[in-house]
Amino acid sequence: MGVLSRRRSLLIKLVVIVSTAWFTIAFLLYSEDRTDRGIALSLQNNPVNREARELQHDSNLLEPANPFKNDDDENPKANLQEPRKEDDGGVLLPPQNLPGELGKPVVLPTNLSAEVKKMVDDGWLKNAFNQYVSDMISVHRSLPDPRDEWCKKPNRYLTKLPATSVIICFHNEAWSILLRTVHSVLDRSPKHLIKEVVLVDDFSDMSHLKQQLEDYWKSEPRVKIVRAKKREGLIRARLLGAREASGPVLTYLDSHCECTDGWLEPLLDRIARDPTTVVCPVIDVIDDTTLEYHWRDSSGVNVGGFDWNLQFNWHAVPDKEKKKHENSAEPVWSPTMAGGLFSIDKKFFEKLGTYDSGFDIWGGENLELSFKTWMCGGTLEIVPCSHVGHIFRKRSPYKWRSGVNVLRRNSVRLAEVWLDEYAKYYYQRIGNDKGDFGDITARRKLRDDLNCKSFKWYLDNIYPELFVPGDAVANGEFRNLGHGGKTCLDSPARKSDLHKPAGLYPCHRQGGNQYWMYSKTGEIRRDEACLDYSGQEVILYPCHGSKGNQYWEYDEESKLLRHGSSDKCLGINASKTKLIMEQCNNNSNNQRWTLENYDSSKLNK
Ligand SMILES: *[C@@H]1O[C@H](CO)[C@@H](O)[C@H](O)[C@H]1NC(C)=O
Ligand SMILES: *[C@@H]1O[C@H](CO)[C@@H](O)[C@H](O)[C@H]1NC(C)=O
Ligand SMILES: *[C@@H]1O[C@H](CO)[C@@H](O)[C@H](O)[C@H]1NC(C)=O
Repeated sequence: MGVLSRRRSLLIKLVVIVSTAWFTIAFLLYSEDRTDRGIALSLQNNPVNREARELQHDSNLLEPANPFKNDDDENPKANLQEPRKEDDGGVLLPPQNLPGELGKPVVLPTNLSAEVKKMVDDGWLKNAFNQYVSDMISVHRSLPDPRDEWCKKPNRYLTKLPATSVIICFHNEAWSILLRTVHSVLDRSPKHLIKEVVLVDDFSDMSHLKQQLEDYWKSEPRVKIVRAKKREGLIRARLLGAREASGPVLTYLDSHCECTDGWLEPLLDRIARDPTTVVCPVIDVIDDTTLEYHWRDSSGVNVGGFDWNLQFNWHAVPDKEKKKHENSAEPVWSPTMAGGLFSIDKKFFEKLGTYDSGFDIWGGENLELSFKTWMCGGTLEIVPCSHVGHIFRKRSPYKWRSGVNVLRRNSVRLAEVWLDEYAKYYYQRIGNDKGDFGDITARRKLRDDLNCKSFKWYLDNIYPELFVPGDAVANGEFRNLGHGGKTCLDSPARKSDLHKPAGLYPCHRQGGNQYWMYSKTGEIRRDEACLDYSGQEVILYPCHGSKGNQYWEYDEESKLLRHGSSDKCLGINASKTKLIMEQCNNNSNNQRWTLENYDSSKLNK
């Protein structure tokens, strides 16, 4: 226990606080860009390295020399570095002291002139990330190679791989970011594997995305630009891109990404071996302020899940999945996909009905594609050898009519078509108010025609870690039998109550803060809060499904609650005010508990 787990929990605490703040901001502001929100939690993989930033402060970064402006500027490309080509066409390694090379952070001096400061602020306002810093960085900048050695072994991948069409949808994206995204695809992929890059302009009005963009790519025939005739939103823009794509595999990226060396082959390899495999790269974080590229090795990979609000979330790779692989760099099954970064066989995508789910604008599309993939005969994987960086914005910079109702409408459609008898758990969360969710006959017919499996099959086989409220082994009060036997486990379990010691209170039989569930995997929980012990206090902590600190084994005979990683037992102190962990002793009433409605037949065998 001790230092390591304390460090881990400190780190995770920090990350959770940061992401909570992000989410609060994201929810306050309406946002079209679901992808950004959806995958923001992958930051858990990539704690921001503040030290690196601070070190950079005393580097001799000059005030940026008139970086080209982004929009409505006479000569916006003035400061763009041309690709540094060698005679044989190879790209020369850029000098490492240029800003942002090797994915290093660019930190602006604090004493910027008023004029520059205004440019920096304008960049943030327009893009919700530091456009000024992005403009200082080469659109061909070098990146670290985040791959494990294992990924680079010869003959790792099939020699004959299918080519892909890379589809990048954008709306009023910053010039340097969009170009860097496209160049990172072209510069870091074998030429014959990129059938084309389809840029889908979702009705932007910034001038640099018009003729200037056409001119820039005139000499690169593999880049196609497709324009929506009105504002379509992410889903219909992606559909538009798919219709224009001619490659056998579709790869969707966001317009503020950077692909790293060798990102593409491991994705295409999985699809070549089995075209029903849908693959996602590991999504690394590009810092929105410094554009630093953060990454971790493949041991830090998380997989996607969701909760009963039908919100995407991350969780650790389950142990049983880890055991399947001899190497942590091998692809892992993921119950859901994080965001809009994935590759799929085009024919399989079409068979699944693509994105054409009658969803509005955004929201829920990645969960739908995930459920559909798994239930209708496919596999969804995260491929640790493939790394793509992504800027997570804290808000969407775009105006868009949108909000809660669009999201709810999509989620209700999702629940109606795919969730079977489990839909009730989502409806409980929204006060059973489904609203108008449109016609779903065609979607149900698609599911029938494809002979898709049940949602129960999906939960049992692909996402057994999801806590299904109806499956609890016990629910109600958890009463301690010591010191008179009138003390119950009692704590609120909202987000703000997490990371704090769990409490005790005289039993009141009113539910509320004394209502707990004992899950079939041995958690003591309410909603997403789990009783957790890592060597000090017994606290509530976000449930992580990986046992260890959150695993409690209840023995109906002795009535002891034995803790997984410490092998101690849960008890209460003599004044009945504090949960304590002690050497297990079945003669001591203060370690004995009754769990209401305990039904051992529901236990995971
Ligand atoms: C900012 O500070 C640096 C060194 O501290 C100095 O060289 C530079 O001239 C200053 N720039 C402005 C605009 O004051
Ligand atoms: C209590 O503990 C003792 C010794 O560890 C063991 O032999 C006994 O079976 C336990 N009783 C119950 C009810 O679990
Ligand atoms: C029980 O724990 C509380 C909180 O730490 C403490 O104030 C109290 O003195 C303890 N009671 C006993 C008898 O140890």
